[in-house]
Amino acid sequence: MPMMPAPSPDGGVETKYPYGEEHIGTTELNPSYRVDLRNPGPEELDRLFESDQVKDWSQLSWKDAGRPYRVENMAEGKKKWEAEANEDMSVKTSWEHFNRSFHEWFVKDVPRELNETKSNLKQHLSRFRWSEVKAALGDYMRLSLWNYVQRVEDGIWDPRGKRALFRGLDVEKPRILFLGAAEGYEAMQLSAMYPGGEAVLVDYDAFCKTDRYGRFPDSYPFLGTNPATGGPEVWYKEQMKIEYIVDDIRNLAFGREFDIVLSVGLLEHFPDEYKPEVLDWHRKFLKPGGVAILTTPRDQVKSRLYYKIMADVMNYTYRELMNIRQMGLYLHENGFGILRHGIIKVHNGIVAKPR
Ligand SMILES: C[S@@+](CC[C@H](N)C(=O)[O-])C[C@H]1O[C@@H](n2cnc3c(N)ncnc32)[C@H](O)[C@@H]1O
Repeated sequence: MPMMPAPSPDGGVETKYPYGEEHIGTTELNPSYRVDLRNPGPEELDRLFESDQVKDWSQLSWKDAGRPYRVENMAEGKKKWEAEANEDMSVKTSWEHFNRSFHEWFVKDVPRELNETKSNLKQHLSRFRWSEVKAALGDYMRLSLWNYVQRVEDGIWDPRGKRALFRGLDVEKPRILFLGAAEGYEAMQLSAMYPGGEAVLVDYDAFCKTDRYGRFPDSYPFLGTNPATGGPEVWYKEQMKIEYIVDDIRNLAFGREFDIVLSVGLLEHFPDEYKPEVLDWHRKFLKPGGVAILTTPRDQVKSRLYYKIMADVMNYTYRELMNIRQMGLYLHENGFGILRHGIIKVHNGIVAKPR
């Protein structure tokens, strides 16, 4: 299906699908996110996905790899909730808080909020209101960081990095299962690259279906493939076949029926005693020959700083930051053969098959 913007009845151009073939190769900033339709060739994709640090996983030990870094400081909202309830917040409730808190940031008009915060700061400063100055400085710092990470650098969605990670899969019209799908971004990117299949998104927080995915912008363009020509094509959420299931992954009754089982930022939320079970979720729904694709946030100075500064937004659940060797070792030890591994902007990425 060609994705040129359709002429509207008044002769202008409809904005429902604002980007078409003529935008391939371009990037632009809008108030909440970056649009990135740059279409690098294979060489540049290889650079976007720095890969293959480990030649033989059986030779790597935990002694060599070290242990993941644990993010300890929890969100004030969680601490307050626990103090008032006089109990620990359950894991599911923690995710519900996280998803609401994180979602608020994706829908911000960042330049407008930055300007507002700056003028608040000036006013408080001119009136010597020190506690307000401190709060406004904190807001300004978090907004500036978000502007850089999500909007300017596009480090969270990272479409070019994700395309580099997902490219070259031996699948046609795949059935894709996304575990802990949140807003479902990566299943949409995969669906655009490998069109004609179906994606099943699973998250036990209903807000993810109604808001994080439900309100994901219909006008966000995903650069994928034209099935007729094999060339590039722009795809939109509404053109993809997506089912969203609100349930615990542990309750899924699927058989071995998926070509791709995917998770993005799931494994690192489970302490080591649960990791074999989580990795089994990525194996048990795969067709013979199917692939598991996992990403986890990288352990780098920038990321440690991000989870410090954004603690009140992000830190509701157990979380580790790991490097690609540590992540790969978890998969290798739990019966996966690693086909490709590497790093994209803020995540590690692995494509693997059960051994
Ligand atoms: C950290 S998020 C994934 C990162 C995601 N890309 C984002 O932007 O938030 C993990 C998601 O997994 C979901 N989740 C965690 N454990 C689950 C389980 N046992 N069953 C279903 N969903 C689960 C959470 O509700 C959450 O939305």
